[in-house]
Amino acid sequence: MTAVDLAPYLETCRRRVDRQLDRVLPPEGAFPDVLHRAMRYSTLAGGKRVRAALAIASAEACGRDDDAVLPAAAALELIHAYSLIHDDLPAMDDDDIRRGRPTNHKVFGEAMAILAGDALLTLAFHVLADDGLNPNLGAPDRIRVIQEIGRAAGHGGLVGGQAVDVASEGLHADMAVLEYIHTHKTGALIRAAVRAGAIVGGAGETDFEAFSGFGEKVGLAFQIADDLLDVEGDPAVMGKSVGGDNRKQKQTYPRLLGLVESRGLAKELVEKAIEDIDRFGGRAGPLRSMARFIVERKR
Ligand code: IPE
Ligand code: IPE
Ligand code: MG
Ligand code: MG
Ligand code: MG
Repeated sequence: MTAVDLAPYLETCRRRVDRQLDRVLPPEGAFPDVLHRAMRYSTLAGGKRVRAALAIASAEACGRDDDAVLPAAAALELIHAYSLIHDDLPAMDDDDIRRGRPTNHKVFGEAMAILAGDALLTLAFHVLADDGLNPNLGAPDRIRVIQEIGRAAGHGGLVGGQAVDVASEGLHADMAVLEYIHTHKTGALIRAAVRAGAIVGGAGETDFEAFSGFGEKVGLAFQIADDLLDVEGDPAVMGKSVGGDNRKQKQTYPRLLGLVESRGLAKELVEKAIEDIDRFGGRAGPLRSMARFIVERKR
């Protein structure tokens, strides 16, 4: 199947989701303005918007290309932004640079960074549920999307993965633990992005299973690629520092399998993911291109 030229596609997704984010985030000038500034600082600081684009592209693969998916796309990026703010805190990865600028706690202090993260996570679920923001998505589908993203963000997904990630620093490398960390801290939200798009797109049961398989594989590949970039990436291009995983003795694919095998595994996952969505033909072109981008990316 033909791939699409991804750069303009991602740019259009970015513009659409950033407009939605700007609308739902509280204004900087309103009280308590320091909290609002901290929320906007990290959310609107760039970022590839991969999760938003995956939701948009999955809805499109089902033949739905209106704005109904935008609240879900924005909610995914709000949750992602919160997770990055907390991930960078001194108590977690202790990083100073994110998306090419000082991390949230470096600018606003740790207390405000924690609160900004809390507020972004909460706002995400308000956006998903809000009647005014979802005029074209019926309540049953809205509830399914809320369940989907709620499960992926919490103890059984992103937070669970982050918990095992920090608890396993410095421990003997273990494949089962490593796989748990990656499929949960990163894979779960990416899979939920794809599935949320499929729900909004009205996918039937068999199609939904195909999207799920795709999302799961691409989600794991995404974090393997992130691990690889932490070893061999260029911090200036990535907008974050490198080498931290090794310094903290994190459980990573390069540490366990080496660079070559990790790269091979990520590519293999992506090719299998693309097979999963074969049934959608040309309409899944953007999803295919995004899957390849996820392992070929330099940032
Ligand atoms: C970084 O995610 C953190 C991980 C889950 C690996 P991204 O690579 O999607 O970060 P942004 O959104 O582009 O900044
Ligand atoms: C972060 O993984 C995953 C989440 C934020 C949920 P990493 O700690 O590897 O992400 P980076 O490398 O700091 O972006
Ligand atoms: Mg981390
Ligand atoms: Mg980190
Ligand atoms: Mg990383």
